[in-house]
Amino acid sequence: MFGKAIVLIVSILSHLLIFKFIRTSLVYKNRQEVDQILTYLNKYLTNTYYAPPANHSAYNSILVKPEFDYCKRSDLYKFYHPDVVMTDTYTFREAKGVIREALRSSYFDCIPQMYFKLRNTQTLSKHVLPEQLTLPFTYYDQLVHKFKVGQASLCLFQKYNHLPSRHVLSHKDNLMNNQYKYIDSLREKGVDEECIKNATFIPKTYRLFQKQDCIEFFNYLNSQEYKDKIAEEGPQFITKVGLEVHRGRGIKVLFPEETKKLQETYKNGKRCGADQSLLVAQQYIGNPMLFNNHKIEFRIYWILASTNPIIAYAYDKTLIRRCIAPFDKFSLNKEAHVCNTAIVKSTLKQRGADLDLDDENADESELFIDWKLDYLQDLLLQQGKIKDKKWLQNYLYPTVDRMIIHSIKSVEDQITRDSRLAEFFAADFIMTDDLKIHIMEINYNPQTLKTTPAREKQHTKMTQDMIDIQNAYLRSKYLRFKKIILKLVAKMKKDFGLLDQIITQKNIQEINEAYKDKLDQGIKINDDNLFRLIMDENLPGTKKYKDLIQKKCL
Ligand SMILES: *[C@@H]1O[C@H](CO)[C@@H](O)[C@H](O)[C@H]1NC(C)=O
Ligand SMILES: *[C@@H]1O[C@H](CO)[C@@H](O)[C@H](O)[C@H]1NC(C)=O
Repeated sequence: MFGKAIVLIVSILSHLLIFKFIRTSLVYKNRQEVDQILTYLNKYLTNTYYAPPANHSAYNSILVKPEFDYCKRSDLYKFYHPDVVMTDTYTFREAKGVIREALRSSYFDCIPQMYFKLRNTQTLSKHVLPEQLTLPFTYYDQLVHKFKVGQASLCLFQKYNHLPSRHVLSHKDNLMNNQYKYIDSLREKGVDEECIKNATFIPKTYRLFQKQDCIEFFNYLNSQEYKDKIAEEGPQFITKVGLEVHRGRGIKVLFPEETKKLQETYKNGKRCGADQSLLVAQQYIGNPMLFNNHKIEFRIYWILASTNPIIAYAYDKTLIRRCIAPFDKFSLNKEAHVCNTAIVKSTLKQRGADLDLDDENADESELFIDWKLDYLQDLLLQQGKIKDKKWLQNYLYPTVDRMIIHSIKSVEDQITRDSRLAEFFAADFIMTDDLKIHIMEINYNPQTLKTTPAREKQHTKMTQDMIDIQNAYLRSKYLRFKKIILKLVAKMKKDFGLLDQIITQKNIQEINEAYKDKLDQGIKINDDNLFRLIMDENLPGTKKYKDLIQKKCL
């Protein structure tokens, strides 16, 4: 009897031991080595690529406690659970809106897991990121500012939807300054005027704080050409303060009175070089394409899918938006000319419209016309302004794509390079009645509207298409790194060596190569994905830019 009980206990114990053995040694085969390698990789890659200063103590609005060993655990978990990366998508978004709804309906939303720990322990300290998280898709970029990158967030097997240096494109004054610098640098290279013309993505702008630009501008103001133009077309320029001015503030339309004042201030150009005010004069688009008498803009959604190397996609579906006031080129009402969100918002507010600013999708439905540029093409065909039924494919999209490529190229040296980073942008274009287009501004975190079921559906599809692209690059990278890790494990076992002793220069080269985003390992984006590739630095020569920039212009 007693003997039997001992046998039973021994048998249970040995089963438990075997179970533990299976768990640690078979399921987590070579766990120690893999753990060492992953820790090494996160440290090496973060130090080599993106390593912002850490700030653990700071408040973050998702109330998640940063954990120093998070990446260690998360990457290890994913290494042994490939489905988490290769089949599933674990994501979350803290801000409410269409994107959050889309993510919740299509993927594993990590937020319940994050709150689960909070409820069970009644303390914030256990409110943490789940190990499975692959594609955090946040509104605010606190995961890079409030967490230690490579340890507490942005692990090797994650892709983030934000790029810390995006302001080089999304601040209006940066966009403008980078355009000047870019054109200056092309001129220095000696490319021809046609290249310069094609590389110009914002309306012609004179920097009045730069002697040469300033003199040119005042000479033009005195020319007969200018006088004829204002008589025929109304105001030709707007002026703005060149730095830190956003959303329509500080913009003056050069009506006769304003022009006279400006000429007096600059003594008709004699004070050029002496006056250092950061003022610029930008060509005013006085002949915009109109829709029912309102100026219209169209919005192209685009993404930087990676910055190591730069890979960009633009979306096929587009939003057309109209100015709030009817357009009248001779109107002295600024709102008829400056068609932009802040002014529009304050006007709506004054009218008592209910704008929920916490919601990232404040309702501006009355200002949006249609989601498709086909509509614009139909309109132009009807008006006889174009004849080509494939005008969008043959002219508009290539022109739009080239402008976005040039805007990216104008900041390529200022962008943080790391394949964990990405960003979602929208570029607002204006079209003239003779069908020229210009970029007016670029925003990140663009509004995604749910004002109509059709629009909600389109934005849901766009979110899914973005996630599809993020997944494709992450999965390719995951498979590349899995091979490298297995190779290093074998080497460690064979030589009984520590990682530091066995890793060679060649291994490091392989690691850097594998860290570059590219679609390989049999991974592709879905056939029905509506994003089109517009730039990929993996490709050779002018193919990088879809052959939209000629070799002589580079
Ligand atoms: C960390 O965050 C706190 C609070 O937001 C701030 O005062 C401090 O300057 C930050 N430190 C660093 C190193 O960024
Ligand atoms: C400039 O753009 C036009 C189309 O808008 C294109 O036909 C031409 O080849 C481009 N020129 C250069 C030098 O890239």
